[in-house]
Amino acid sequence: MTHLFKRLSLVVLPILAALVMTLSLPAMADESAPVAQKEMTQLAGADFWHEVRAGEAGFTTSKSPEHGVLISTPGSTWYVLKEKWMSPAGAIAIFGSIAMVFMAYVLVGPLMLSKPRTGRKLKRWSRWDRALHWSMAFTFLTLAFSGLMLVYGKHFLKPYVPTEFWGFVVMLAKQYHNYVGPLFFMLLIIVLLKWWRKSIPTMTDIRWFMKMGGMVGKHKGTHPSAGFSNGGEKAIYWLLIFFGAAAAVSGLILDFPIFGQTRRDMELSNLLHMFSALILICGFIFHIYIGLFGMEGALEGMVTGEVDETWAKEHHDLWYAEVKANEAANTAETPDEKVKGVSTNEQAS
Ligand code: HEM
Repeated sequence: MTHLFKRLSLVVLPILAALVMTLSLPAMADESAPVAQKEMTQLAGADFWHEVRAGEAGFTTSKSPEHGVLISTPGSTWYVLKEKWMSPAGAIAIFGSIAMVFMAYVLVGPLMLSKPRTGRKLKRWSRWDRALHWSMAFTFLTLAFSGLMLVYGKHFLKPYVPTEFWGFVVMLAKQYHNYVGPLFFMLLIIVLLKWWRKSIPTMTDIRWFMKMGGMVGKHKGTHPSAGFSNGGEKAIYWLLIFFGAAAAVSGLILDFPIFGQTRRDMELSNLLHMFSALILICGFIFHIYIGLFGMEGALEGMVTGEVDETWAKEHHDLWYAEVKANEAANTAETPDEKVKGVSTNEQAS
């Protein structure tokens, strides 16, 4: 008997419970709706959000600027400028620059030496110069890649990889960018101190530009005159200094938001940072093309420190003449000393 009662209760009790729940649900809903609605109206009704959107400050114990402002509506202008304008324009500029160097390679081809190499070498870049150049190149390129990941990764990587992997990549990019950015600034200051003198523009550089560096058009292959650096190198140098400084200073403002920066300061810094970085990336696509593929003999100078005399004569004739004049003067001063196999370039270092 007790057994039967137990079995019945197993079937009947759940049915009873379900009935009670079903009957009481509408009543529960009726009771909770006005409460929730009341709370919504009290806490965040239309008037409340209207005030928030108008930028009205609320109360907070934090004393930092603008901390009482929950939503800063002008921030949407920054968002539109960054996401809808600068980001697509930057992508077009980068792909456009890559397409242009590709076309230059296919249509114009690399600038080859027009005479055979002599085998005699001139010292062009000291060990110091090369260490500085390659540290700068590595820092710049890794910052460029991590920065591009932060801006464009959500479009070209995030949709195709697991969320955890995306999170890891973007965290790594952000941390790398934040910590290595200041190192770029320090290298930039050294680059400025070390190479500014030989990068001062002269009339020779204007003439170099008027002949388009002897690279294209009717002047192709003419090798216009140049000193240690030609007009193009000086232009890329000052581009690096000015836009590099803008990117570095705006980056530091973003990196250390502890000096009372307002949201507007941060937004402006962000736009300036992105704009300067994009200009640099596009500019250096051309520099890297020339260094790697576009000019025979240029890379060996920055790798070994020495260039062939033929290269020096063709691309930097005034510098070549200067080195030879110095060499002759030194030989005349010390007739006993034999001229060594490698001539040195004092001015470069
Ligand atoms: C793979 C990447 C790169 C290659 C192959 C490369 C190659 C070269 C070469 C061959 C030179 C010497 C040109 C000459 O002797 O006249 C040079 C100079 C220079 N490079 Fe690069 N470079 C690279 C990346 C960079 C980057 C990323 C930066 C800076 C952000 C940079 C900044 C400079 C500067 C400032 C000079 C000196 C230009 C002058 O004033 O004469 N390079 N590079």
